[in-house]
Amino acid sequence: VTSDIRVLTEPDDLNRAFEVFAVGLGLTLPAGTDAAELTEPGRVLGAFVPGPDGGPDDLVGTASAFTSWLIVPGGARVGQGALTDVGVLPTHTRRGLATAMLRRQLEEISARGESIATLRASEATIYERFGFGAASSLVSAELLVDRARPRPTLPAAGPVRYVEPDEAGELMPRIYDRVGFVGATGRPERWWRAQAWFGAATASAARRVVVHGVPGAEDGFLRYHSTSTNWMAPDPTLVVDDLVATTPEALSGLLRFLSSIDLVARVVLPKLPLDHGLEELLLDRRAIRTTGVSDETWLRLVDVEAALAARTYALSAPAGAGAGTAVTIEVRDRQLPTNDGGYRVEASGVKRTEDAPDLSTDVAALGAAYLGGVSWRQLALAGRVREHTPGALAAADALFRTTRPPFAGTMF
Ligand SMILES: CC(C)(COP(=O)(O)OP(=O)(O)OC[C@H]1O[C@@H](n2cnc3c(N)ncnc32)[C@H](O)[C@@H]1OP(=O)(O)O)[C@@H](O)C(=O)NCCC(=O)NCCS
Repeated sequence: VTSDIRVLTEPDDLNRAFEVFAVGLGLTLPAGTDAAELTEPGRVLGAFVPGPDGGPDDLVGTASAFTSWLIVPGGARVGQGALTDVGVLPTHTRRGLATAMLRRQLEEISARGESIATLRASEATIYERFGFGAASSLVSAELLVDRARPRPTLPAAGPVRYVEPDEAGELMPRIYDRVGFVGATGRPERWWRAQAWFGAATASAARRVVVHGVPGAEDGFLRYHSTSTNWMAPDPTLVVDDLVATTPEALSGLLRFLSSIDLVARVVLPKLPLDHGLEELLLDRRAIRTTGVSDETWLRLVDVEAALAARTYALSAPAGAGAGTAVTIEVRDRQLPTNDGGYRVEASGVKRTEDAPDLSTDVAALGAAYLGGVSWRQLALAGRVREHTPGALAAADALFRTTRPPFAGTMF
């Protein structure tokens, strides 16, 4: 189909693009939505097709990005393009519009010098073809408040208090900026604005913010909403939309708070890391139960060499596990062929090489392995990597492994 991919700048086009995205995802936009407030100038694309009867072109698809960072193993904050709001009108799907928009976004991300792109996928079958791999996971869990008693050995907590939107709007980004875990994703001002907008669009109940720590030294917060509008509801439930604890004291204080709210039977925690370990913090470890595990960060290396060089290797390799071994990985990248080639990875760094490869893979599988969330062994079981040199998979695992599973906890 003849289509034209354009950067959208006019407020009407931006709003129309939001509408197209909403139709694609079956959402209803709240009245008064102003797309210009929620998107980054210059990073919203529209796909146009010729209008009926030779009239003006119709905007039928959209794909946006925003400027962000990603914490990679070793702790560096690497510039990334965060892809979001991808949608094509149901009348115009399966004719290559998403492909054309994603190609353009990847070129744009590359031109901006961002070596990584990430996204959250509505379906797990869409993005591998564009070079993305599922690189981190989310756990959802439920806390049964009546049974939840934090262990008395938890670190002494500071005060917790409710904050009003204005103060919350200032405090939350400040606290969030201190996070240091692998997979953490930068939240620009527009992301915070989009949260407020999304809250208004999806929940009838009010959103509340509770912070931990003495004023001036706050170190954690949670945002939550209640799903019941009636205090006599049979199973009063509270949903934690965001839980950020940058110290053990903050986690202790926020967990104590959640375990002690009157008139709440269940607390739903939809965004926890795989290794959250909250069971260990409770006297009755069955007061919290896992309700699901899902893929979270879909990651693409846009500049393979720069991205590989940005992380560290062999952080936690046990002695003798091959940490000292170099592994040469041959990478194939259909969309961005400048990435094709061999990369020699070792604890001291990464460089391009013409040497015969020890492993061969494609850029999507490399994206899955990049943060340490998926092992090379698993990728080999799936037939997504070929081992040419015996022992190379184990050596690559020793290099790529991280101490904690990657996690973002940030939806976009
Ligand atoms: C997902 C979506 C953007 C794809 O748009 P599209 O213009 O139809 O995609 P394309 O025509 O470029 O498809 C490219 C390829 O992906 C495949 N594909 C697209 N959407 C797919 C899906 N949902 N599941 C499986 N495969 C899909 C196509 O079959 C095609 O495969 P091919 O290259 O082997 O022929 C569109 O279906 C949509 O808007 N869906 C609803 C909203 C949504 O899920 N957005 C994503 C938010 S993360």
